Amino acid sequence: MKPEKLSSLHFRPRQLSESPLRVVQISDCHLYASPSRSLAGLNTQDTFDSVLELVSSEFNTSDLILATGDLVHDASPMGYTRMRDRLEKMNRPVHCLPGNHDVPEVMSEYLNQGKVTTPASVRLRNWIIIMLDSTVPGREGGHLDAGQLEILEQNLDQNPEHHALICLHHHPLPIGSAWMDRMALDNPISFFAIIDRFPQVRAILCGHIHQEYESQRHQVRLLGAPSTCIQFTPLLEQFNLDRLPPGLRWLELGNDGSVNTGIRRLSTMPMKLDVNVAGY
Ligand SMILES: [Fe+2]
Repeated sequence: MKPEKLSSLHFRPRQLSESPLRVVQISDCHLYASPSRSLAGLNTQDTFDSVLELVSSEFNTSDLILATGDLVHDASPMGYTRMRDRLEKMNRPVHCLPGNHDVPEVMSEYLNQGKVTTPASVRLRNWIIIMLDSTVPGREGGHLDAGQLEILEQNLDQNPEHHALICLHHHPLPIGSAWMDRMALDNPISFFAIIDRFPQVRAILCGHIHQEYESQRHQVRLLGAPSTCIQFTPLLEQFNLDRLPPGLRWLELGNDGSVNTGIRRLSTMPMKLDVNVAGY
């Protein structure tokens, strides 16, 4: 799969002053210990590599990459090691958080080296990016425990001058897909009770839903991303695979707190998608 040609839809020309922070979000890569394994007919290592090629060809001026969970489907050390090797070659910071298919302890053991890290928060220019762990062992749905809520609150409390981007794997509000909404974050009231106290929060970024998604709650944008492998059809009661190609979300975080963002996909759909699978 070759990425499409450069498009003016992407990052604006870099100005020396007031240049935004350029971010690429990749999500739900679902790698395996074996690089030859497939998910619903797609070789997840191949599609991951193709999305990284897209980053190199069209988003090479990005300042950092955020990886928002379900990075390795079988949570294997081999899968994480291969992912780290690939991401290290991107030559820019990559910050990772876990999804329900990951095992956070294994992930942080193998994904904390060189430019690839699993921080709770990072400050860059006048932005703070807060990376939350919404996983619960043995469960597909998400929950932010007291420790994670404290990380959120403390980082916001201590950085009132920084615009905030909050990242977590699970979607915090229903997206209109009944089957997927049964595995959403299960304590959004506690989460938003903190968010609502801090006007510097600009956007919430999630993975998990394998589809382009955008909505707004008060002044805060809620953004979801495609997977680097299989896509889920939006707004359906039951699991259904979409025929859209793998992709990524790009973001320009402005010094004024603005968020310019969009989705970019591979130009062609990998050939072997099996749309008849009943789940993932
Ligand atoms: Fe996923």
